[in-house]
Amino acid sequence: MLEPVRIGLLGVGTVGSGTVNVLKRNAEEIERRTGRQILVTRAAARNPDKLAADPEGIELGTDLESVVDADDVDVVVELIGGYEPARSLVLRAIENGKHVVTANKALIALHGDEIFAAAAQKGVSVAYEAAVAGGIPIIKSVREGLAGNRIEWLVGIINGTGNFILSEMSEKGREFDGVLKEAQELGYAEADPTFDIEGTDAAHKLTILASIAFGVPLQFDACYTEGISKLSPQDVKYAAELGYTVKHLGVARREDNGIELRVHPTLIPEKRLLANVNGVMNAVVVKADAVGPTLYYGAGAGAEPTASAVVADIIDVARLIGQPAHTHVPDLGFRAERMGERGVLDIEDIESAYYLRMQVKDRAGVMAKITSILAEQGISIEAVVQKEAEDDAADEPILPIFMVTSQIQEKSLNATLKELEALDEVVGSIVKIRIEYLD
Ligand code: HSE
Repeated sequence: MLEPVRIGLLGVGTVGSGTVNVLKRNAEEIERRTGRQILVTRAAARNPDKLAADPEGIELGTDLESVVDADDVDVVVELIGGYEPARSLVLRAIENGKHVVTANKALIALHGDEIFAAAAQKGVSVAYEAAVAGGIPIIKSVREGLAGNRIEWLVGIINGTGNFILSEMSEKGREFDGVLKEAQELGYAEADPTFDIEGTDAAHKLTILASIAFGVPLQFDACYTEGISKLSPQDVKYAAELGYTVKHLGVARREDNGIELRVHPTLIPEKRLLANVNGVMNAVVVKADAVGPTLYYGAGAGAEPTASAVVADIIDVARLIGQPAHTHVPDLGFRAERMGERGVLDIEDIESAYYLRMQVKDRAGVMAKITSILAEQGISIEAVVQKEAEDDAADEPILPIFMVTSQIQEKSLNATLKELEALDEVVGSIVKIRIEYLD
């Protein structure tokens, strides 16, 4: 029987407690897989009162450094989140020759290159399955399961909190603030929930997915990011009238001139499977050349779903302790010296179809004016609806018009929208939401 693998836990909040519970409950099954026991010997958090699991046998404290320095720790499991002190602690653990498991997407998206280089030098492993899409084994699937393919694109619902909020608002008509509070109580939301709402969390995850899918460096700063906070219920309703569902998506696509890397609210046809992914569930569709499209679905946040991914990583690391570093799967799936340099496209250079909504004055010929400006720019209208004025009695009633355009480069669309907004008949700004057909 091999020696037990000794774990030092940094962070004992929702995921830390879930990890302790899963390791304990499934100890026998895990040992059957690894041939060795997994023991949590130490755990630290700034506030150790938060340890909900039975801490029996775990030395618990508030000194995070002492865990990464401890002789009775083989693997450091970082679950505190955020950039610092997580980065310094992980680098120190690596320096001490310890393997690392982390659920920290912000850390990997921004500092992954530095961390992986340090780990390579020390011959240790950094595993991060729990960083993307909670319990869905998407890292392993893309990096290893699809390794024989050339990946063309991937599209995902990769923030559970945002999807939970969107689903509750559209299905139950609930208010934004109440749903967010519930997501926080359930342990889904980030410490700073603006990361969920404004798309930063999804951008962290998409950055990681794009790197392992295309073999390019982590480029978080280049990711175009729009959240759900400005999404109006009216657009959700009008999109449904046109046969679309609004979802907050991450999109990464290989194009001839670069990579699309973007997170934003998106209309998708309501018959697509992704349109029916609700609540805290996440889903990612990956389109690869040999296998075609594959779909990964599961809980994107929460204590035990995330712990499922953390424990799987601990098992992987337990198996490779003592194995020479050159036998490890490269951290981002491609050999570090062979990572491509393909740049990320500016959002204005992408091509998409769009949903547009504008408010117009109820004057004869207004629709003709709008359609002729669109036609001049080569933009055809796939569908258009004009609603009745909300206030018929007004001196000059205002009508909502919404439409779906053909594919067009975003730069040209933006120029056309400026032209339309300059018309006397168009009131205020035009709402634009990108469309993905996923076919
Ligand atoms: N705040 C994240 C989410 C947690 O809601 O998806 C899981 O990464």
